[in-house]
Amino acid sequence: MKVLVTGGLGFIGSHTVVELQKKGYEVVIIDDLSNSSIEVLVGITAITGKTPLFEQLDLKEKSKVESFFETHKDIGGVIHFAASKAVGESVEKPLLYYENNLNTLIYMLKSVLQLETSNFIFSSSCTVYGQADMMPITERAPTKPAESPYGNTKQIGEEILIDTCKVNPKLNTISLRYFNPIGAHPSAKIGELPIGVPQNLVPFITQTAAGLRKELSVFGNDYPTPDGTCIRDYIHVVDLANAHVIALERLVNGKNNYNYETYNVGTGKGSTVLEVIHSFEKVSGKKVPYKFAPRRKGDVIQAYADTTKANNELGWQATSSLDEAMRSAWKWEQHIRNI
Ligand code: WQD
Repeated sequence: MKVLVTGGLGFIGSHTVVELQKKGYEVVIIDDLSNSSIEVLVGITAITGKTPLFEQLDLKEKSKVESFFETHKDIGGVIHFAASKAVGESVEKPLLYYENNLNTLIYMLKSVLQLETSNFIFSSSCTVYGQADMMPITERAPTKPAESPYGNTKQIGEEILIDTCKVNPKLNTISLRYFNPIGAHPSAKIGELPIGVPQNLVPFITQTAAGLRKELSVFGNDYPTPDGTCIRDYIHVVDLANAHVIALERLVNGKNNYNYETYNVGTGKGSTVLEVIHSFEKVSGKKVPYKFAPRRKGDVIQAYADTTKANNELGWQATSSLDEAMRSAWKWEQHIRNI
């Protein structure tokens, strides 16, 4: 079966392509290369021995999306990663985010609805919960007003899907709400490639250990948590990739209970920033110089998943520990820096 992966040369997309190919799917990637590199295709091929079909295409160009689907009528499933995802940048450039994350979703759905079968996996985020009142967070937790245009595009994206699925029973959709994806494929042939100064914690840690950054700023140590630093649910990107394959197969095999379903994808375990630093130091043997800095605007105190629904209904659960994820992140950093 042919599966379309948009944003398939990105961090989570490329790891999902590898897992799809391992299970025998024919993969076609669309990516505009705005936040990834064609080199990732080499990495994927080095892991699986198969080069996915690739088309460099800007999904904001409606006519291009339509003609793509004209030539690929045999697509059995779509995993839609393509979107801009930098929270801070979205505050500076809201229209870029609303256009890139929402117009593309609308154009994709219009074309997917023309297919024989419409199985669609949407890349959503725990950001939609904002600061949830209860931990761990279940899918029933109410969404909160988004802290950023990025988070808002995920909330609006889910609403577009809900409304579209309501009047298109043939459109089967699953939204996966990611917690914090970290790490890299154990082969170190693909991984996270942040452009410029990393916004996220783990790539900043690995770049500091690699000597690219002088020291890590820990944004706030006066939170109401065991060690004063924020708590997040850090999930190995390969575990996250597998959740996408399993979710797609649920739809392809007609196992879904509704034509719109939502699942949290996390480990179910919360870790503080200091615990992540200590995990890295343990597995890498490298000290990470850090200082405490003021809280970062928009950060929630804590967010970690209740994964019961995904465990029971998808039959999926994360298998990698924080240490294993941090080990893979370091191995990847060493690979790209030749250290
Ligand atoms: C984690 C913790 C920071 C950097 C973001 C997006 C979310 C999703 C995942 C896309 C926080 C602290 C970080 C640093 C630090 N992305 N930190 N020093 O903000 O939980 O989630 O990425 O879907 O939508 O919001 O991840 O890695 O930026 O931060 O102390 O240099 O690490 O304050 O507590 P976040 P993060």
